[in-house]
Amino acid sequence: ISTVEGLADGAEMHPLQDEFSAKQGLQCGYCTPGMLMRAREILAENPDPSPAEVREAIASNLCRCTGYQFIVEAVVAAAERMRTAKETAS
Ligand code: FES
Repeated sequence: ISTVEGLADGAEMHPLQDEFSAKQGLQCGYCTPGMLMRAREILAENPDPSPAEVREAIASNLCRCTGYQFIVEAVVAAAERMRTAKETAS
């Protein structure tokens, strides 16, 4: 079982955590970990998702408090960062 506590690499936040913070995609203490872990799963399956694909993939994580636009933007931005980092490393 993976939890949000295992997402960061020591003191270095995961790109998803960075982008959720930068793009104001953070929600409450229940929703944010769920969204982050779902987003990690999405990017493992598809490293270059469109906004529509991200929106559909997070549809099972329900929150009545806010919209999903900033979350979608954060996931797409994190995906781009992760692809760039992978290309730079190879
Ligand atoms: Fe968590 Fe809405 S932000 S229930």
